[in-house]
Amino acid sequence: MGIIQSVSFLRLSAIIAAALLSCLMPGREALADNDPMANARIIGEKRCGECHDTELSLFGHTQHARVFRENPRNETEKAVCEACHGPGSLHAADTKDKTKIIGFDKEWGTPIEKQNGQCLTCHSGGQRLHWPGSIHATQKLACSDCHNPMARFSANGLLKKAGITETCQSCHQQQRAEFRKKSHMPVPEGKMTCEDCHNPHGSSSKRLLKADSVNELCYSCHAEKRGPFIWEHAPVRENCLNCHSPHGSNADKLLIQPRPFLCAGCHSTTGTMGHAVWGNNTLGNNASAVTATNVLGGTPNKRMTGRSCQNCHSTIHGSNSPSGARFQR
Ligand code: HEC
Ligand code: HEC
Ligand code: HEC
Ligand code: HEC
Ligand code: HEC
Ligand code: HEC
Ligand code: HEC
Ligand code: HEC
Ligand code: HEC
Ligand code: HEC
Repeated sequence: MGIIQSVSFLRLSAIIAAALLSCLMPGREALADNDPMANARIIGEKRCGECHDTELSLFGHTQHARVFRENPRNETEKAVCEACHGPGSLHAADTKDKTKIIGFDKEWGTPIEKQNGQCLTCHSGGQRLHWPGSIHATQKLACSDCHNPMARFSANGLLKKAGITETCQSCHQQQRAEFRKKSHMPVPEGKMTCEDCHNPHGSSSKRLLKADSVNELCYSCHAEKRGPFIWEHAPVRENCLNCHSPHGSNADKLLIQPRPFLCAGCHSTTGTMGHAVWGNNTLGNNASAVTATNVLGGTPNKRMTGRSCQNCHSTIHGSNSPSGARFQR
């Protein structure tokens, strides 16, 4: 009994001693014993600058340089370059061995998890609470796919490109095309960025949205659509994307289809879900289906052009008029 106790006591003191030691040796606590950089020491930015003078001077314009040099809050920040690249003594002695310094580009070959781990030692939580498991993390994006902290390429956020939208569009070409369509959210005009709606670091809802649902997101800017309304239009409450595309569309007002096709997708031209207003210019003519020919063929019905169904059903997002059950007022 006594022996077992004293053995575990010795073990415990060894663990405490190791923990204390690692606190006293900055920059080493994050590295496992089998890490090729485990025995490396911090050599300081002057020494790095002897071989990397361009990087040393460009880095001076960044937020990290200002904080790490002028107002470091701990030993890691005081290490400046090595706060991110890891302790560099072994690298300075053998610059050819790529395992001896943490590089942040594909060619250098440092594993993505290790690269991101360096940034996350200081930047986990906050906006990055949902980074683990987010689509960008599982697709193996590196922080440095969007950020370049070596110089000031953007006014804010140490981004790789001059702005947020440009940074996103360097990979998301399809969305870039959507914002070029006839009606679109004012992203290309610079009045809004991808980040107004998405959190690229991950979110608790799907598609990296910044709100709990699509509708909550839309209401955050289009508050008047939230209601409450005396007469609700069911598809509006369910999801704005039943009728709108979030980025852009060639139909008016970001609609997924031009009117009347949009409405006809749910309201048949006959029967209880609608009434025939197309065909031969007369309300009440029974056309059996909405097609380009019977809607647009011949002389188009005045009521079917322009705002179409909304010439009469004008309060399509919901009505607060006591007699607005059919969204006519
Ligand atoms: C004796 C000169 C020397 C010193 C001192 C030195 N480096 Fe290097 N470093 C090099 C050379 C040479 C390379 C290889 C460049 C190449 O192959 O593209 C390199 C490569 C790197 C890379 C990888 C670049 C890439 O392509 O991703 C990083 C990061 C780096 N050094 C950072 C540092 C840091 C941080 C320090 C200070 C702790 C430092 N270096 C000190 C010479 C040096
Ligand atoms: C905040 C973290 C951080 C700090 C601090 C930092 N670097 Fe970097 N460094 C990076 C990242 C990320 C990249 C990759 C940039 C990119 O996308 O090309 C990089 C790239 C490099 C490269 C490769 C060449 C290049 O410019 O792309 C060298 C060399 C380098 N850093 C040296 C340094 C030196 C020297 C210092 C200190 C003066 C320093 N770094 C400070 C994160 C950092
Ligand atoms: C040793 C801690 C530390 C490490 C490692 C670190 N950062 Fe930072 N980072 C900071 C501090 C401190 C600030 C300044 C925060 C402030 O001003 O409030 C900052 C600021 C930033 C900013 C905001 C800049 C701005 O203009 O608002 C970005 C983006 C950033 N870091 C990205 C990174 C990335 C990417 C990495 C890894 C390549 C990284 N950081 C590594 C401590 C760190
Ligand atoms: C898909 C692109 C992308 C990736 C990947 C990415 N970021 Fe960002 N990050 C952004 C954008 C966009 C901003 C907002 C910049 C602005 O507001 O101007 C930002 C802002 C930040 C900020 C400053 C604001 C804040 O949250 O305090 C920090 C710090 C930061 N990122 C760290 C990281 C770290 C660490 C990683 C890797 C784990 C990472 N980022 C990965 C795009 C990205
Ligand atoms: C380095 C390339 C790259 C950059 C830069 C990038 N992304 Fe992505 N993004 C991806 C990949 C890969 C996927 C997953 C495959 C896909 O859906 O295209 C993805 C997926 C997404 C998704 C879909 C999420 C889902 O659940 O389907 C959104 C939203 C997104 N990115 C937004 C952004 C925003 C906003 C930015 C800029 C801040 C950005 N991305 C920058 C590569 C990138
Ligand atoms: C007005 C808000 C808003 C803006 C601005 C915005 N998005 Fe989206 N994005 C959304 C919504 C909403 C979805 C769809 C979510 C769903 O399907 O449930 C989406 C979906 C996506 C997807 C998933 C694939 C798809 O198209 O459905 C990607 C990738 C994406 N956005 C990237 C971007 C990029 C890149 C930018 C900037 C160029 C951007 N978004 C700007 C709201 C926005
Ligand atoms: C960050 C704020 C913001 C968010 C979030 C947002 N919008 Fe917008 N929306 C705008 C702005 C700004 C305009 C342009 C208004 C203008 O130019 O008068 C706009 C315009 C529109 C238009 C009219 C387009 C046109 O051609 O006139 C529609 C429709 C629209 N938004 C629907 C949505 C939907 C649906 C969502 C949710 C997926 C959404 N918005 C989320 C800010 C936002
Ligand atoms: C049933 C289809 C439908 C749904 C669902 C829908 N809208 Fe609309 N929305 C329209 C139509 C049609 C227009 C064009 C109105 C016009 O031309 O008068 C429009 C126009 C708009 C406009 C621009 C004109 C205006 O009224 O401000 C905004 C903004 C808008 N919708 C936001 C939303 C939001 C936010 C949601 C979700 C809460 C939503 N819409 C859901 C059909 C719909
Ligand atoms: C995604 C399907 C969908 C789309 C698109 C749609 N609606 Fe509806 N609409 C409904 C549903 C569901 C109801 C509720 C029916 C009920 O309560 O019996 C409804 C109710 C209505 C009502 C009230 C009818 C009643 O019986 O209470 C009118 C009027 C109406 N819609 C007009 C339109 C117009 C005009 C458009 C095109 C701008 C349109 N709707 C687009 C699904 C849709
Ligand atoms: C000329 C005006 C006008 C136009 C244009 C019009 N409607 Fe109507 N709609 C009405 C009137 C009037 C009613 C009946 C209102 C009532 O009974 O209180 C009605 C009722 C409805 C109803 C409820 C059906 C029911 O049986 O109670 C739906 C759904 C509807 N319209 C859909 C549409 C759609 C979809 C379009 C476009 C294809 C359209 N309307 C175009 C005037 C119009």
